[in-house]
Amino acid sequence: MNAIIVGISGQDGSYLAEFLLGKGYNVCGVVRRSSVTENQSYRINHLFDNPKLKLEYGDLNDLSSLVHILQKHKPTEIYNLAAQSHVKISFDNPIYTCETNAIGTLKLLEAIRLVDIKIKMYQASSSEMFGNNIDDDGYQRETTQMSPVSPYGCSKVFGYNLTRNYRNSYNMFISNGILFNHESPRRGVNFVTNKVCKMAVEIKKGMIDKLPLGNLEASRDWGHSKDYVEAMWLMLQQEDPDDFVCSTGISHTVRDLCEYVFNKLDMDYKDYVTTDEKYFRPEELRDLKGDCSKLTKLGWTPKYTFETMLDEMVEYWLDK
Ligand code: NAP
Ligand code: GDD
Repeated sequence: MNAIIVGISGQDGSYLAEFLLGKGYNVCGVVRRSSVTENQSYRINHLFDNPKLKLEYGDLNDLSSLVHILQKHKPTEIYNLAAQSHVKISFDNPIYTCETNAIGTLKLLEAIRLVDIKIKMYQASSSEMFGNNIDDDGYQRETTQMSPVSPYGCSKVFGYNLTRNYRNSYNMFISNGILFNHESPRRGVNFVTNKVCKMAVEIKKGMIDKLPLGNLEASRDWGHSKDYVEAMWLMLQQEDPDDFVCSTGISHTVRDLCEYVFNKLDMDYKDYVTTDEKYFRPEELRDLKGDCSKLTKLGWTPKYTFETMLDEMVEYWLDK
């Protein structure tokens, strides 16, 4: 039970590390060198006393670092969570996004092929890959056609196709989790849920006056990261590798999100939320709603609802 998490310092990486350590795994986290290490490790500082956790410097863009880490830690499972994960920023930095998310994934696949082809791999694929395609019943699922509408989405389709190609060509155990949006108090504050929770609390405390947002009509299927990392692990415990959608099956608009959070703080979002062109994307992904029935057949069910997740996030910012 040796797991490597590439991207351990991110939202999902930190919850996955907690989950795997709780199951008795030896966990090696791959972190990038940063000039401000304390900023980088704030999500995982609380795990540092655990002797089963080790960190190694490495980068998805650096094949040699990946090979050395795999040779040293001899993992049975690798979770590839590393990415430039912000969709809007992928329009500003498309080459970096594709080099990391697409070619970086290829480098990890090659590292596994070079070191030990029997290592199981989880690939963090995304509902962003579907773009604006929706099946007739209003859902996206494993069979829905993929037509991404962002450099990020395109990079993830590359990673998804390549992992399937390696699975079929070399008989490797690689599963894609096609995860819909998932959030938590550890979410970056430039993603819309945590931005709204943080800034609504700041408005409540009189620290700021307004909350500028982009498209309020976009709708997303929002779940909790803690629930979704369990699904990642479950996918690697199956007899055979496969691809699975992970979602709640319920979607809400950004406007609904604002309404819920501001109501919780006894405020009316209409008095504070403004729109700013700079938060719109050059091409918008309008609606996401996932059908995760294939995954639920493995026994996965989320514990959080949209409301309990937002309650936890608002409480976090109120405490802070
Ligand atoms: P996140 O908080 O942005 O974390 C991304 C992680 O990747 C961070 O640890 C980051 O390290 C690391 N990273 C970035 N570039 C790297 C590189 N070149 N080499 C090594 N590590 C690198 O993202 P998340 O929300 O946890 O998401 C985890 C994965 O799931 C990502 O691949 C994301 O695209 C995918 N995904 C996320 C969602 C979602 O709603 N959260 C949905 C579907 C798919 P630093 O701390 O140094 O930046
Ligand atoms: N970030 C942000 N900031 N989004 C805003 C804002 C704003 O001020 N105002 C409106 N939005 C809208 C975006 O246009 C989008 O339609 C929606 O809110 C959600 O935006 P994000 O929270 O940035 O997430 P995302 O859906 O673009 O991408 C996330 O989910 C993907 C899965 O579908 C990321 O976690 C990706 O890494 C992930 O793959």
